Amino acid sequence: MNEEFQNKTLVISGGTRGIGKAIVYKFASNGCNVAFTYNSNEEEAKNIANDVEAKYNIKARYYPLNILEPESYKALFLEIDKDFDRIDYFVSNAIISGRSVVGGYGKFMRLKPKGLNNIYTATVNAFVIGAQEAAKRIEKVGGGSIISMSSTGNRIYIENYAGHGVNKAAVEAMVRYAAQELGEKGIRVNAVSGGPIETDALRAFTNYEEVKAETIKRSPINRMGQPTDLAGACLFLCSEASSWVTGHTLIVDGGTTFK
Ligand SMILES: NC(=O)c1ccc[n+]([C@@H]2O[C@H](COP(=O)([O-])OP(=O)(O)OC[C@H]3O[C@@H](n4cnc5c(N)ncnc54)[C@H](OP(=O)(O)O)[C@@H]3O)[C@@H](O)[C@H]2O)c1
Repeated sequence: MNEEFQNKTLVISGGTRGIGKAIVYKFASNGCNVAFTYNSNEEEAKNIANDVEAKYNIKARYYPLNILEPESYKALFLEIDKDFDRIDYFVSNAIISGRSVVGGYGKFMRLKPKGLNNIYTATVNAFVIGAQEAAKRIEKVGGGSIISMSSTGNRIYIENYAGHGVNKAAVEAMVRYAAQELGEKGIRVNAVSGGPIETDALRAFTNYEEVKAETIKRSPINRMGQPTDLAGACLFLCSEASSWVTGHTLIVDGGTTFK
């Protein structure tokens, strides 16, 4: 239990898997209430909410969300308002995969507007609308923190990652703009840029084994990233320990990007 997070509320998109799930557990274990979204895994969302409520004595609620329809964030936040009396932190974490990234996840010569636009919608537009709705509420409690998840694939080449990498670069730029304008409301806005993290999303990469071997080779720490590695960075960026950090991209990559 961490007094700083007690009675506070985190809203996070995509809390059912990988990194989002680790962030839900990290905040809940620090005494923070959690409102998280799911897309297809309602059963898993229910299990997670029950588990963190039982283990950490906090309030957890889950809601459906499709980030390909970013405007639906407005209705989502109205639902969250019914369950929570304050919102302090927002993490834009969910990402699309599968059929909706066809034409977006692939080699340069195979990129197509529809897939690229879907990734833009899910990455940049979803961050913008989610962060706007969160900011209105965070302002009312005197300030807080907003984070977008990003990845080092916007700085270094990852095969097939052009669509995602370009949109992560765009969302990092949007974070810097948001930080400039939300600072006066007491809201800090940052990105957490992860190197390759062992999740289902990464395991779905056609060249997963190659990426894994290369990551371990490049990292002076000699291992793949784990979802908890990024969750710790998010907790830091929401805590008072980072009170003068805003408009920043915190790279959490096991030292892989420099090599
Ligand atoms: N994995 C990596 O190596 C890595 C590295 C750096 C940064 N990141 C970033 O970290 C974030 C999380 O990645 P991850 O690897 O944990 O992803 P993941 O394992 O694929 O999980 C994706 C999450 O997003 C939800 N989701 C999927 N489609 C959605 C949609 N259309 N609308 C709303 N939610 C949807 C899923 O919900 P359901 O389970 O309910 O379908 C799930 O909770 C992403 O922003 C990613 O770019 C990942």
